[in-house]
Amino acid sequence: MLGDKKVLYSGMQATGNLTLGNYLGALKNWVALSDQYECFYGVVDLHSITVRQDPAELRKRARALLTLYIAAGLDPEKNCIYYQSHVSGHAELAWILNCFTYMGELNRMTQFKDKAAKHADNINAGLFTYPVLMAADILLYQADVVPVGVDQMQHLEITRDIAQRFNGIYGDVFTVPEAYFGKVGAKIMSLQDPSRKMSKSDENPNASIYLMDDPDTIMRKFKRAVTDSESQILYREEQPGIKNLIDIYCACTGKTAEETVREFDQKGYGEFKSAVGEAVVSVLKPLQDRVAELTKDKAYIDSVIKKNGEKAQYFANKTLRKVQKKVGFPERIR
Ligand code: TRP
Repeated sequence: MLGDKKVLYSGMQATGNLTLGNYLGALKNWVALSDQYECFYGVVDLHSITVRQDPAELRKRARALLTLYIAAGLDPEKNCIYYQSHVSGHAELAWILNCFTYMGELNRMTQFKDKAAKHADNINAGLFTYPVLMAADILLYQADVVPVGVDQMQHLEITRDIAQRFNGIYGDVFTVPEAYFGKVGAKIMSLQDPSRKMSKSDENPNASIYLMDDPDTIMRKFKRAVTDSESQILYREEQPGIKNLIDIYCACTGKTAEETVREFDQKGYGEFKSAVGEAVVSVLKPLQDRVAELTKDKAYIDSVIKKNGEKAQYFANKTLRKVQKKVGFPERIR
């Protein structure tokens, strides 16, 4: 708790281009959370270097992500949007927590196994202890809730285990976080394979709509979206491609699936795909304009980075000092 609000923490990697799925499924819904929760959103650049990055590119993307979050409507006065690397406590707490985490636990992490297979030439220790750093992110702010996708549930579980283990030894130091199951956004699937989630790391660029795609690209990708040969627009599992397009249309227009089915009754797939494309453009274009506007305002973005970095550092240090004392580090002389 912070004041009378529960604390919510989430982290975003600045690698890869965010997709429409990230926006409709997560980001868009986060805007409303700041009334209810004290929200922290880290741009988790320490996590990013577990795989090789081009330094200039990483810096650029981190700033672009931070800007995008503000453009999407996360008010930086109410949401602490900050760079993980600007708050030294993340790395410091991660070290301590490393000493309370077992090799066996980390060995079970499916994401580690996947990433190790994908980056076989660089299976570094950071990649292995990635979940410990994530635990440090969450526990540092005494987060009550963490909105995560299914792919991160295992990491949240280990965070809870580490917190409980630590608390078991030293008393109630950490809040044990829970997964946030609030109003979940639409689950958007790949446009090329509707059985898979739309992903920022998909190798086929036609599979995903990127938030910065221009209108022509968006329209083209929808025209190419994989559907079926049923020739009817119905919302059902047997037509996963059409179902996904209906979900996207609904998320962009606020209409229900039934309304959409009625609206496109007797219409062809071509016409429907164009309508979905236009609906997406009408959502993304204002977002892109706002990004462009904010990007120009360097002083403003800098001030957000500085102010929120300091705010995060303040809360992080409170937890860190407590932990350092508990484990037996000498007191600081002031
Ligand atoms: N590992 C998360 C991902 O790749 C990002 C992340 C880092 C995170 N720290 C976090 C998410 C803390 C939630 C809470 O998506």
